[in-house]
Amino acid sequence: MIAIPWILLSFAVSVLGLHLPVSCPQATECQLALLSNNDVRLECSISNAHWFFFQLDKNDKTKNLSIFDIQQNPDGSILIQNPSPFNTGLYQCQDENGTLMNAYKIDFQDIAKLYVTHLNLGQKPLKNETLNLGHREILYTQWEPWQRCSNCQSPGERKRLGYCYIKEPLEEPVPCGLYLGATQAFYARVRPEIQVEACYEICEGPLTGGEYVIFDNFRFTEESESTQIMCPFASIYRPVHWEANNTALTWQNQLSGEDTGSFMDLYSGGRQLQIFQPAIYRCFVEQELIAQFNPIAFVDLLDAERQSKSQGKRQFRVQQGKADSVLRGLKLMLMMVSVLIVGGVLCKVVFRPTRDKKRNQVLLVK
Ligand SMILES: *[C@@H]1O[C@H](CO)[C@@H](O)[C@H](O)[C@H]1NC(C)=O
Ligand SMILES: *[C@@H]1O[C@H](CO)[C@@H](O)[C@H](O)[C@H]1NC(C)=O
Ligand SMILES: *[C@@H]1O[C@H](CO)[C@@H](O)[C@H](O)[C@H]1NC(C)=O
Ligand SMILES: *[C@@H]1O[C@H](CO)[C@@H](O)[C@H](O)[C@H]1NC(C)=O
Repeated sequence: MIAIPWILLSFAVSVLGLHLPVSCPQATECQLALLSNNDVRLECSISNAHWFFFQLDKNDKTKNLSIFDIQQNPDGSILIQNPSPFNTGLYQCQDENGTLMNAYKIDFQDIAKLYVTHLNLGQKPLKNETLNLGHREILYTQWEPWQRCSNCQSPGERKRLGYCYIKEPLEEPVPCGLYLGATQAFYARVRPEIQVEACYEICEGPLTGGEYVIFDNFRFTEESESTQIMCPFASIYRPVHWEANNTALTWQNQLSGEDTGSFMDLYSGGRQLQIFQPAIYRCFVEQELIAQFNPIAFVDLLDAERQSKSQGKRQFRVQQGKADSVLRGLKLMLMMVSVLIVGGVLCKVVFRPTRDKKRNQVLLVK
């Protein structure tokens, strides 16, 4: 796994933002559905905010969020990282006098139950279902708008998220988790959905400009012969696109069971890519090239090929160690940061002024 030197990506942060921002008008209570496992940021209208959380099932349990491991930003917003369905509940921010500023009732729907359909594979989304709870409730999927095409100028894919809602006649729909609470476990139809389809878009004018990062340090572990790479800024809430050796990796291929030599993690919308073969991997978020990954094994391969010509024998240097723990990631980040300070060889931010140049900039940094 790759640790991301976030400091390098500060430009991209200003364009894309790090996490899905969620806001709602002051003094009204918003009710919304989101997905577990994907970070979100809840906004507060004041910077000196106090945050509280109420679990809806156990309405006596109010939690002062500042005592929890939830990051509060200087602008008053909070970052909920890797939320689980247990984070479903009411979030409130108050000013110092206890006046309510913003309130969010959020249903973090269980990503592990995500139902995926690909239109080009002829797969059908879930059907409406009636609940028999006495109010002619309908359990259905409320679809978000389609996200942008993951790629432009060449074929891409787009996705849309669907959240589980329950509607009584003449009433506003309510996210399933908020309506059913713990009893949702009894209903198999209570699950979020995602739909994918192929798309093609023309690139819209020149890019805003920006940087992408080249990682030169990912490696295969000895035991598993696969490794994970992670696309910065990617999320299930955004269009994400991967290429291996300039060939697009598609959900269509993956979902139809084709061996693509890699595996995109659906639960993160393709943020994580498990790879089994050396190649130059590149990822795009919102059609912008964000990062390029050059495996050490790939660099070695080139060396080995050069050597094999003289020695008649290939040599692969297999790097040791599994870098999948957070601790290791942090160490790696510190190391990368210090390397950058010393001279910068492991990764580079490349300025990319126009889209035309995008395809030409395959750089090997060594
Ligand atoms: C919430 O916790 C913070 C930090 O422990 C504390 O300063 C604040 O007074 C608490 N607020 C309430 C209303 O308990
Ligand atoms: C909180 O109350 C105090 C005393 O009434 C007042 O001076 C202060 O302006 C209030 N703060 C906010 C953010 O309203
Ligand atoms: C499913 O139920 C929702 C909410 O009542 C409704 O808007 C939608 O049209 C229904 N879909 C079908 C296929 O019946
Ligand atoms: C990418 O290209 C390199 C060099 O041609 C090759 O060795 C490697 O197997 C390719 N990887 C994939 C996944 O196509």
